[in-house]
Amino acid sequence: MTTDNIPLVDLGLQHAQVRDDVAPGIAAVLESGAFINGPDVGAFEQEYAAFVGAAHTVGVANGTDALELALRAAGVRPGSEVVMPANTFIATAEAAARAGCSVRLVDCNETTALIDADQTLAAIGPDTGAVIPVDLFGQVAPFEAFVDLDVVVIEDAAQSQGATRHGVSAGTFGNAAGTSFYPGKNLGAYGDAGAVVTDDPAIAEDVRALGGHGGTKKYEHRLVGVNSRLDTIQAVVLRAKLRRLPEWNEKRRQAADRYAELLGAVEPVTLPVVLDGNVPVWHLYVVQVDRRDDVLAALQAEGIGAGIHYPQPVHLTGAFAHLGLGAGSFPVAERLAERILSLPIYPGITEAQQERVASVLTKAVGA
Ligand SMILES: Cc1ncc(COP(=O)(O)O)c(C=O)c1O
Repeated sequence: MTTDNIPLVDLGLQHAQVRDDVAPGIAAVLESGAFINGPDVGAFEQEYAAFVGAAHTVGVANGTDALELALRAAGVRPGSEVVMPANTFIATAEAAARAGCSVRLVDCNETTALIDADQTLAAIGPDTGAVIPVDLFGQVAPFEAFVDLDVVVIEDAAQSQGATRHGVSAGTFGNAAGTSFYPGKNLGAYGDAGAVVTDDPAIAEDVRALGGHGGTKKYEHRLVGVNSRLDTIQAVVLRAKLRRLPEWNEKRRQAADRYAELLGAVEPVTLPVVLDGNVPVWHLYVVQVDRRDDVLAALQAEGIGAGIHYPQPVHLTGAFAHLGLGAGSFPVAERLAERILSLPIYPGITEAQQERVASVLTKAVGA
């Protein structure tokens, strides 16, 4: 048995596959000097829109900006409430706060960890400006509950590139979606990057304007914008990786199936549950265990890069303490935060590596 370290995600394996496309592409950008809005940006935007099956993709600097600018471009007013799950990465809440909105949290479903649809509908009222369901861990949220609402719906599709729900692609639910190309994402850049995906030409145009200092022509500023653009160099990387994404997502699915086989009979380990109709892309493979911190320490002591996504629900972070929602406000999200454990998963993880993760985990949970 090998005792090599097993990382949570192995970006080197991906780079090895795209190196021959990326290196000349970046060299060409360096020679041309077209660092901002070079031809690869437009080409990637078109390719990503086609991949998702949406009319428009607008590249921005990161996924947090994507969500903020999507809210603003969709006309969500400062001062209104944005409803979102308590168990998300902090960026979902940051985006709403930066758009001048207040964050309205709801709990999640105990089985899937996705946003609780009933609580979401109950939270919508006259002050609601938008809802942000999150495609957590790589499976699409139950968007059918949120059609025909009188509020804007923005999909947080940062973790779901290539996932589908009832055959419909992540990134197409709601008025617009924000996605992240943070390096560890299923489609990751070589630095920060993100995009807004939408069928709505007016939202696409305003996101582009907002991200370009308020206009789409130089020195024309019709809105108070920000500087949030997708770098040409990142677009080169993303174009090369997008071509391989379906194959990489398939490999993640195979790895998820393998974990289910290896751990299915290990009673103290609760496996992730896929919502009916979903084909996830397993951005993260999140199990639940008791004594999670001890189990995590045991895995890490064996060189296994397990993680926690995320250790604190949004309302228990210092940043959102002003919401005044103490422990006990969202019991499902809080219990999950104590029990969740992300196991290594990435395209190229070997069967032997997964077997070692499973055997160390099985021992650590005392099974
Ligand atoms: C669910 C979720 N939303 C938003 C983001 C924000 O993306 P970024 O880190 O690119 O700003 C991320 C990723 O980090 C995420 O996982």
